[in-house]
Amino acid sequence: MTSIKVSFHKTPPAADTAIIPVFEGGKPGRAAQDLDKRASGLVKQALAASKTFKGRPGQSLTICLPEKAGFARVILLGAGEKPKGGAKGKTDGMAASMAAEKLGGQLAPVLRAAGAEKAVLFAEGLDAAHLATGVLLRSYRFNKFKTAKKDPGGELKSLAVVTEDAAAGTRSFKALEIAASGTVLARDLVNEPPNLLYPESFARQIEKELKPLGVEVEILDEKKMQKLGMGAFLAVGMGSARKPRLVIMRWKGGTKTGGGKTGGAKAKGGPLAFVGKGVTFDTGGVSLKTAEGMKEMKLDMGGAAAVVGLMKVLATRKSKAHVIGAVGLAENMPSDAAYRPGDILTSHSGKTIEVLNTDAEGRLVLADTLSYVQKIYKPSVVVDLATLTGAMMVALGSEYCGTFVNDDALWAQMDGAGKATGEKLWRMPLDEIWRKDVESPIADVQNLGAMGSYGGACTAAGFLEHFIEKGVKWAHMDIAGAAWLKSDRPTAPKGGTGFGVRVLDRLVADHYE
Ligand code: BES
Ligand code: MN
Ligand code: ZN
Repeated sequence: MTSIKVSFHKTPPAADTAIIPVFEGGKPGRAAQDLDKRASGLVKQALAASKTFKGRPGQSLTICLPEKAGFARVILLGAGEKPKGGAKGKTDGMAASMAAEKLGGQLAPVLRAAGAEKAVLFAEGLDAAHLATGVLLRSYRFNKFKTAKKDPGGELKSLAVVTEDAAAGTRSFKALEIAASGTVLARDLVNEPPNLLYPESFARQIEKELKPLGVEVEILDEKKMQKLGMGAFLAVGMGSARKPRLVIMRWKGGTKTGGGKTGGAKAKGGPLAFVGKGVTFDTGGVSLKTAEGMKEMKLDMGGAAAVVGLMKVLATRKSKAHVIGAVGLAENMPSDAAYRPGDILTSHSGKTIEVLNTDAEGRLVLADTLSYVQKIYKPSVVVDLATLTGAMMVALGSEYCGTFVNDDALWAQMDGAGKATGEKLWRMPLDEIWRKDVESPIADVQNLGAMGSYGGACTAAGFLEHFIEKGVKWAHMDIAGAAWLKSDRPTAPKGGTGFGVRVLDRLVADHYE
C-alpha cells in the first residue's frame, strides 16, 4: 500500500489540490470564499453553473484553477446537512464521526481521478481525524502483483487537514491511524493468494510482523498438535501437502486484565482471548465446492487475519491489557489422504465428532483451538472470528457481522464498540435447540445440523458452544460476509476488508485496560 502522510494544520500548507466541503443547501463556507478571491470567482461560478451538484453527501465537483489561485484544482465535496454546533450527545458525536469517515472514504476515488498528489482538506467543522481515516482506509490498494511501474505519479502522497484545533486532530488521528494499520495488515493477508499464503508461510509471516513489536509468538506444528490430541483440527489439514499450524500470540500489557468500566462483563483475572479461523484455502475437501463457490475461498482465513491485525494494533499502541491471540491454520483439500464424511474424530477436548460434510471444516479447526486456549490460558473472555457459514452471508450480507454472545454485558460492550468504529455487529441467537441439533446418534456431536442448511449460522454457533467451558464469556463473530467485498464501499475497496480489527481494538481499549 502506498503510504499517505497525514497532518493537521490551522492554516493550509502548499498543495496541488484543495478540498472544500459544501453543505447541502448552504452557501460555500469561508475556505471557498477565500479561495474565490484568488480564483476570480471560479468556484462561485462553477457552483451556479452546475445543475447537479447540491452538496449531497459524497457528491463532488472538481474545478481546475488559474495559477494565481495557489492550487491546481479544487474539489468541492458534498457534505450533506451541516452538523449542528453546541453540546453533542455521545451518540450524535459517534454518528458524526462515522459520517465524516464515510465522506473521507468517498473523497478518495475523487482524489485519485483528479491525480492529486498533495492535498489540503478543509475540515469546515467536520471531524478532521475521521475524515482523514476515511481517506486512508479507502485508498488501500493491493497491487504488489502488478508488474507495471510502481509509482506512475498522480497518486496521493500527503493529506493536510485544516482544522481549528490541529492538536486535537493530531491526537485523535494517532489512535485511528494505528487501528487502520492493523486493518491494512489484515486486508493484505486476506488478499494474498493461497499459493503463497498457506499455514506454514502464514505462521512465519505472523512472526515477522509481531515479534519486533514485542508480541510472543509460538508456532505449534502438526507433530505437536498430534501430541496434544487435536484430532478435529488435524483432520481438516490431512488432505493437503501444506501441513497445519496453530499459532499462539501473547501480549502481556500492564494490568491483569479485567476491569471493564461497565462492570457486568468484568473479567476476573484471566486474559482476553481472540481466536481466528485460518483456513488458507477452502475447497470443501471431499465434499467439494463448486467452481463458483470456491473462487474466493482464499478469504477463509479472514478471522485469523483480523486476530493478527488486532495483535499488531494492541502491541503498537502498547495496550495495557493481557491478550492471547490464537489462529488455527489449515488448508482444506481433497486427496487420498483427506478426511471423509463419515469419519469420527476425537477432538482435543475429548469429545468425539462425526463428520457429515468436510466443507463444514471451520468449526473443527475452531473446536480444538478454542478448547486448547481455554485449557492453557484460562481466559475470562473469548471472542472468536470466523468466515464460518454461507448462511451468515445470506442472512446479513457484508454490512453487519452476525455475533453470537453468551453474556448480555459483553454484548453491550461489543455493540458499543461496533457503533463507535462503524464495524457493525448484529446479535444472533444462541439456543439449546441448536446445541441439540448437532448431537450425533453415534458420536458426541456432528458437524452439520439436523435441519440442513436452514439456520446454518446458528447451528454452527451451537456446535462451537459444545467446546466452550462453563463460566467463560464467549462471543462468536461469523464474518463470512463482512470479511470480503465484491464491490467497493465508502471506506473499503473490494476484496479483503480487514473486518474485526477496529471493533475489537475498541472493545479492548474501552473495557479491558
Ligand atoms: N468457508 C465456508 C463459509 C463461507 C462461505 C465463507 C462463503 C465465506 C463465503 C465454510 O467453511 C463452509 O463451507 N461452510 C458451509 C457449511 C455447510 C457445509 C454446513 C456452507 O456455508 O455452505
Ligand atoms: Mn468449508
Ligand atoms: Zn471454510
